[in-house]
Amino acid sequence: EKGGYDHFMLKEIFEQPRSVADCLRGRVNADSGHLVLGGLRDYTEKLSKAKRIVIVACGTSWHAGLVAEYIFEELARINVEVEYASEFRYRNPIIKEGDFVIAISQSGETADTLAAIELAKSKGATILGVCNVVGASIPRASHAGAYTHAGPEIGVASTKAFTAQVTVLTQMAIAVASKKGTLHEDTFRRLLFELERIPSKIEKVLKSDEKIREIAEKFKDARNFIYLGRGYNFPVALEGALKLKEISYIHAEGYPAAEMKHGPIALIDAEMPVVFIATKDSSYEKVVSNIQEVKARKGIVIAIVTEGDKLIPTMADYTIEIPAMHEALIPLVSVIPLQLLSYYIAVMRGCNVDQPRNLAKSVTVE
Ligand code: M6R
Repeated sequence: EKGGYDHFMLKEIFEQPRSVADCLRGRVNADSGHLVLGGLRDYTEKLSKAKRIVIVACGTSWHAGLVAEYIFEELARINVEVEYASEFRYRNPIIKEGDFVIAISQSGETADTLAAIELAKSKGATILGVCNVVGASIPRASHAGAYTHAGPEIGVASTKAFTAQVTVLTQMAIAVASKKGTLHEDTFRRLLFELERIPSKIEKVLKSDEKIREIAEKFKDARNFIYLGRGYNFPVALEGALKLKEISYIHAEGYPAAEMKHGPIALIDAEMPVVFIATKDSSYEKVVSNIQEVKARKGIVIAIVTEGDKLIPTMADYTIEIPAMHEALIPLVSVIPLQLLSYYIAVMRGCNVDQPRNLAKSVTVE
């Protein structure tokens, strides 16, 4: 049942070229310029007129929501707020008739997310679900939605569900932006073309498996980790840190790289591994300066870089390359090495990666 892999988590990490392809199948065709999410067909136009979108989710799904915020705002120019479902539901949130709420949930059963959409619905919002488990409570309580089609995710640490969520949300943002007219036809075509190439780019990154395992070996006894990224890679930093915490029990913090100087930089010393997601995108130069700041304090830098980057490898202690792509799509690929790094560290520490202590696959109590 684990398909020859030692753990479900590893199997699910390696399934991502296929699960992302499944999530695109029948929805995107770059040659014909076709992009349709069947379940949302009637809502794309309405969304394109929305003044505001509120995203509610928990954990890794909340991180997918943060990626979506960057993509929706950039491509569709719609104001997006991303809320922890547990905070939203108890805060008397401001929701008006005509607001759109997107609920993201792998299981479709998370108690706080379900309660958040029930509340938003009672205030007149339209609820769109982005879920993996067909027929679960959240899709049933939503007005419409799009499934992520990642297949069953057994490992408690979410991996392929995250990339599938980001794939669906990216397709939604592109479809809405195209309807709204905020996306140039060339960019629309280019994004579809590049989306179709994401599965093979993930495949390529999975080949760095051995190199990542060697890095894991060096850091398996670390007590702390910091993950830093900016822009589209900021949520990836949060996700990398969460993956490490939940399965290896190493304390890890994710931050937007620029926030480092507002506090966390005090933690940097020769013992502190700092994972930078430092791809060639619009934040690149800024991230390079952040790497210099960490090196000046003797921190150990592990950098995820774009293939062919000549500069960062001269500064970082370890580098892992990912292929180049449109920056809005980078999280789909830059998260992969972080999943593998946490997996190998947890295995080397003897942890039960598929069923980490104190955690359940779906959190059906608040
Ligand atoms: O099923 P959901 O996507 O609603 O679950 C939300 C979180 O409980 C979940 O993402 C959790 O954070 C994972 N263990 C992360 O790997």
